[in-house]
Amino acid sequence: MDFKGQHILSVSQFDRAGVERVFAVADRMRPYALRRRVTRVLEGAILGNMFLEPSTRTRVSFGSAFNLLGGEVRDTTEVRASSLVKGESLYDTARVLSGYSDVIVLRHWQEYSVHEFAEASRVPVINGGDGANEHPSQALLDLYTIRNEMAARGAGVDELRIALVGDLKFGRAVHSLSRLLGLYKRVQFKLISPPELQLPEHHRRELLDAGHEIVVSDRLESGIQDTSIVYVTRVQEERFPDPAEAERYRGLFRLNQAIYTEHCEPNTVIMHPLPRNEQAGEVSTDLNDNPNLAIFRQTDNGILVRMALFALLLDVAEQVDEAAREVNWYSGRRG
Ligand code: NCD
Repeated sequence: MDFKGQHILSVSQFDRAGVERVFAVADRMRPYALRRRVTRVLEGAILGNMFLEPSTRTRVSFGSAFNLLGGEVRDTTEVRASSLVKGESLYDTARVLSGYSDVIVLRHWQEYSVHEFAEASRVPVINGGDGANEHPSQALLDLYTIRNEMAARGAGVDELRIALVGDLKFGRAVHSLSRLLGLYKRVQFKLISPPELQLPEHHRRELLDAGHEIVVSDRLESGIQDTSIVYVTRVQEERFPDPAEAERYRGLFRLNQAIYTEHCEPNTVIMHPLPRNEQAGEVSTDLNDNPNLAIFRQTDNGILVRMALFALLLDVAEQVDEAAREVNWYSGRRG
């Protein structure tokens, strides 16, 4: 896989070597993310960071990742603040914004809109989430986290046993993650959701055709047994045509310490793309001190993986360390 100048629109662009290349570069970004060292390798470069749906961590971590490489960030955070409300097409927006940027991250509410935008863009575009379709950078940071968590337990990603819990129908993070895990060998997927919110058929087909095992269940307690990873998701309320329908699923699956202790194998990793919904409580706050709760390791890893993507797309991965220096400010509480 050659990353230079490419768009990142779907995880289906990746093969296993490509994923491992991203991870190898991400590993080398750690001293910069931990503020042990500073690099200015993207000095002068501009990121157009356009988020037309709500976002905290994806937007800020893409921006911070770019800053950590020495580049500058221009955020557009609301449709209301963009000329799309004046009836401008995605084509025109892409032509214009790409004249002001070296790379663009776009989050948009409509499936495949980012593909349409990328066709008109003159610079690389990264999909920051397109409706219920995909969220490639989230899947990469999730898989990076899985790889690290499993390595710490003396295992790899091949033959992984993972439970995907919650809204598997509208959850773009699980769509991308299940696809990416499909690149590994004989993964066992436990798909735990209400029957109406199952993983779409074409995603299940892809996994089965690639030789993976799928177990479908609508019971949290039995579903999370015999797995190494429990990956919980939020009900994607904003995607339901009728909000009252989303309400029916709120709080249906609540993973807490008591259920974890009773049903999970020791050291089962708990993940969530975040935000977790405090009221629905899909991952209870009583798990916050459980060392197997990896949700904030996921968000920290988001910086490393997004730095790696920028470094690869803009072809500076081999130069990052050249212009580096030690930091000269207090940075003691990180890591
Ligand atoms: C996810 C998303 O936006 O798809 N959030 C994120 O980017 N970390 C998941 C979600 O919103 O539930």
